[in-house]
Amino acid sequence: MVQDARLMHTPERVSLCKSEELLECALAVDFDVVYGGQTCRAFAIRFQNEVHAYVNRCAHIAMEMDARENHFFDPKGQWLMCSSHGALYEPPTGRCVGGPCRGGLIKILLSESDGVVFWHTAYNLRPLA
Ligand code: FES
Repeated sequence: MVQDARLMHTPERVSLCKSEELLECALAVDFDVVYGGQTCRAFAIRFQNEVHAYVNRCAHIAMEMDARENHFFDPKGQWLMCSSHGALYEPPTGRCVGGPCRGGLIKILLSESDGVVFWHTAYNLRPLA
């Protein structure tokens, strides 16, 4: 009998950075994850005082979005923007709101506790070995 990987996974939280490193609509903090068996960069941002993280993979073409490392916000600090062709994403959800993207970014669950930001594993999302 084949077991569903989602049911077999026990979520863990992984320390990412200090809360003070994530400033409102400023530079992201990047980190590495294994997503679907592939090592990928991911990034965390703060928007409206909430922290959010996504796999750094554009929904237009599966490539990293930050030509200037860790710069993801558009000039007004309103959207996350891919530097290649200008796809725009909603910071709290990763949903595509403009440009050539379809769908959205792959969200990574974060939490914040005692001045530390943590990311949470999922059945298809793990820390590097
Ligand atoms: S690769 Fe991101 S908009 Fe084209």
